[in-house]
Amino acid sequence: MEEVSRGEGPAGTRPRDLPAELGIKPSGRVHIPDSLGEGLTGGTAGEATVEDPVFSCKDVNVFYGAKQALNGVTVDIARRQVLACIGPSGCGKSTFLRCLNRMNDTIPGARVTGTITLDGQDIHDKQMDVARLRARIGMVFQRPNPFPKSIYDNVAYGPRIHKLTRSRADLDELVFTSLQRAGLWGEVKDRLGTLGTGLSGGQQQRLCIARALAVQPEVILMDEPCSALDPIATARIEDLIEELRESYAIVIVTHSMQQAARVSQRTAYFHLGSLAEVGPTDRVFTNPKHRLTEDYITGRFG
Ligand SMILES: Nc1ncnc2c1ncn2[C@@H]1O[C@H](COP(=O)(O)OP(=O)(O)OP(=O)(O)O)[C@@H](O)[C@H]1O
Ligand SMILES: [Mg+2]
Repeated sequence: MEEVSRGEGPAGTRPRDLPAELGIKPSGRVHIPDSLGEGLTGGTAGEATVEDPVFSCKDVNVFYGAKQALNGVTVDIARRQVLACIGPSGCGKSTFLRCLNRMNDTIPGARVTGTITLDGQDIHDKQMDVARLRARIGMVFQRPNPFPKSIYDNVAYGPRIHKLTRSRADLDELVFTSLQRAGLWGEVKDRLGTLGTGLSGGQQQRLCIARALAVQPEVILMDEPCSALDPIATARIEDLIEELRESYAIVIVTHSMQQAARVSQRTAYFHLGSLAEVGPTDRVFTNPKHRLTEDYITGRFG
């Protein structure tokens, strides 16, 4: 495996548009044709390691019963950067995301092997408090899933459970800053007592981001966070991701290569449970090292 250590990578390079000659198809689920159904050989192409990673994954395998869904994934996740995970449907992107906050533990029959460290600490260590681990890692899902509670209570939920504040005034302040960071405060400040489920889809997704921010996570995982949103709501979330990465590491799964190119500094291409390639986003999209990455980003699948 080719490994090149690098720090920030080309942070700040934020390709807004992909080169037209790539002929990339519009976003949408892509399935692998049967002719490409054989497994990968040769390990991961590109740059899997970074300096001072927040997460470091080494040879991670996931099995659902007898079926292997993730195969020897070794990759670092950098601080204050967005890592985009792309690849055909069923290639293991959500499975990989769920490894990072031990959500696969909640799936009967799922088994994870290999080593994953968060700030150098093994997340599978017996001493690891899994509830606390999940609080350090916010998660945002494909469909906005606010609780059937008020806007205020949605954001206050995590801080209350984890006893993060001492007084009502502290809690008010945390709810305010979380909603503000999620870009929602102005729209909801006069209706904090109304149901979160009564907001528009894009507002609900920002409410879910505010709820994740309120527990003061170190990392935010997003599994296709814009796939249920219209283009305007999507643009707001993408702008928000750009702001949030100043403070957090973000891992986003997306089926839109344009979105991956717009929001991420590094891109990981998964193929049939293996990590085929990872590296700086502009390099992966303009000069992929793996033939499978090239086939995918030029729209040769599907
Ligand atoms: N709970 C589960 N039980 C059994 N198999 C599962 C489970 N979840 C996922 N799988 C299988 O693991 C493989 C990877 O699934 P995963 O959901 O991680 O793919 P994905 O890349 O996120 O796909 P998509 O783009 O469609 O969301 C698939 O073959 C899937 O069928
Ligand atoms: Mg998925």
